[in-house]
Amino acid sequence: MANSNLTNAKRTKNDEFYTQWGDIQKEVAAYVEYNPDVFRGKTVLLPCDDPEWSNFTKFFAQNFERFGLKKLISTSYAAESKTYKSNYTPTLFETSDPQYDKNKTVKNGKIFTLTGDETGDGVVDVNDLKWRYLEGDGDFRSAEVKKLRDEADIIITNPPFSLFREFLAWIMEANKQFVILSNKGAVIYKEVFPLFQENRLWSGRTEWGGGMWFETKNSDDVDKVIDGVNMKNVPSIWLTNIDHGRRHQRLPLMTMEDNKKFNTQIQENENSYKRYDNYDAIEVPYTNAIPSDYKGVMGVPISFLDKYSPEQFEIVWQASGNTRASAPKEVLKKLSYHPHLEDRGGCGVINNERVYSRVLIRHKK
Ligand SMILES: C[S@@+](CC[C@H](N)C(=O)[O-])C[C@H]1O[C@@H](n2cnc3c(N)ncnc32)[C@H](O)[C@@H]1O
Repeated sequence: MANSNLTNAKRTKNDEFYTQWGDIQKEVAAYVEYNPDVFRGKTVLLPCDDPEWSNFTKFFAQNFERFGLKKLISTSYAAESKTYKSNYTPTLFETSDPQYDKNKTVKNGKIFTLTGDETGDGVVDVNDLKWRYLEGDGDFRSAEVKKLRDEADIIITNPPFSLFREFLAWIMEANKQFVILSNKGAVIYKEVFPLFQENRLWSGRTEWGGGMWFETKNSDDVDKVIDGVNMKNVPSIWLTNIDHGRRHQRLPLMTMEDNKKFNTQIQENENSYKRYDNYDAIEVPYTNAIPSDYKGVMGVPISFLDKYSPEQFEIVWQASGNTRASAPKEVLKKLSYHPHLEDRGGCGVINNERVYSRVLIRHKK
């Protein structure tokens, strides 16, 4: 037990997971497919991204012209400020530049900008990035990086998971478009879930199953090694407020009667379609078993949010350990919620037994 606590502590402090090119490409392609002009004339900020490490900067630099970007800004966080200390050594790219400073390379963040063909070779790519040291360490919360946020139209990155709540609030307070990676568990945070409910944030294109593979700098916490690169599987998902086609695909569903007749998972789960003791809603233990003909509120697995189409469903609230603390009183009243000894903050209860965290939904009329 003590050992596993130690491992967890190590993990939460390690924010050094690097996103693979293919994962970025697959995700971003969906936004461009849905709206070919989604990035046209826009300033994109990558606020946790040093191009020497990050594929985000390389990807957007290589696609600068194809996407019609106006400006790409990428900022990195100082080596000395990182919670997880790897053996930092500046790259040749930096040390061979006249502005190289051996103090600043560890204490200051860097800013990279791209606006056009600097080298004059007829193409816009990573070689056209200009860079300098930031005044501070590149913390996204600093006034210096906030100014860049305010200049940007779209913010894209895999942020430090340990600061995820703050990072999302930082984007939302500036009312920006965004595509970011998040830990799956974050969707029921009281700072995140209401944004889902209000359709101010939704799942990205990439499906949630299976976790995502990242390059990790922590050699003590590796799941597999591919071509000498340490990789870690993290239960991560993309969150965004930019539209894409998958978001508008309706779930194909059967009636309750047909589910009871043909869906073996429903037949084998004794809680299927039972009313909760503490909510005026029924338990639907699998997203594919949402009855097409039930008019009331249904509790469905959290992973429903991956399949949610706003044309098909309304999200009423969540039934989880966060509900009592986060739900507006009128929502609880509408759901006829009454606290139950077993509900631990608002989970659904059936025959005095708590069920998993659920999203409470109903069909759109
Ligand atoms: C999960 S990693 C992702 C890196 C890169 N975006 C990628 O996906 O390849 C998060 C990065 O944010 C940096 N970071 C941590 N705290 C930060 C802060 N307060 N401000 C800016 N960056 C921070 C970490 O050092 C790390 O490089």
